[in-house]
Amino acid sequence: MSGQISILGFAGSLRQGSYNRALLRAALELVPSSAKLEVFELDAIPLFNGDLESSPPEKVKEFKRRIKTADALLIVTPEYNYSVPGVLKNAIDWASRPYGDNAFEGKPVALMSASTGMLGGARAQYHLRQSFVFLNMYPVNKPEVFVSFAAQKFDDKGRLLDEKTKELIRELLDNLVSWAKRLKIA
Ligand SMILES: Cc1cc2nc3c(=O)[nH]c(=O)nc-3n(C[C@H](O)[C@H](O)[C@H](O)COP(=O)(O)O)c2cc1C
Repeated sequence: MSGQISILGFAGSLRQGSYNRALLRAALELVPSSAKLEVFELDAIPLFNGDLESSPPEKVKEFKRRIKTADALLIVTPEYNYSVPGVLKNAIDWASRPYGDNAFEGKPVALMSASTGMLGGARAQYHLRQSFVFLNMYPVNKPEVFVSFAAQKFDDKGRLLDEKTKELIRELLDNLVSWAKRLKIA
């Protein structure tokens, strides 16, 4: 449908049974009809090397192109050692470079996190929000989607069971779409 907001989603875990990848898959079912959500897999993104930032590997070029053409981003991440996993930080670092060609410039973004612990990845989200300042991104503030005790909220096929979490995801995606529309006409 024309006029739809295009959202690119990516997850900071490569694990087959990842709760965060499962959360992103759940979002595919909950996105409003005024938007389309596509997923970009971060596997095969090599480690950042500053010598290559002006002629990056193909996968990084594709990642940057997909970010630039999206109207909005949805980042779903675990928390590792109270911060952002290296997989996600590495991908963000590539896409932000070289200086003057930051693919994230001016992008609206929404965040979700899932953790097996009781804080649901909150600390990783706040570290990411700090990076959004330098990247000049526009994060949605509410609702904050922290999926705690994730092992109890998905079935063994990775399907989200928790209705309250589904409601929060719907609200977050609605807010992201409104935010993206507002920024598009600004
Ligand atoms: C290296 C590592 C560090 C972790 N650190 C944290 C942490 O700081 N806070 C937390 O809530 N969970 C932590 N965990 C547990 C993760 O929440 C859990 O492994 C989760 O399933 C990872 O997300 P995923 O299922 O999407 O891969 C850590 C796990 C790993 C492997």
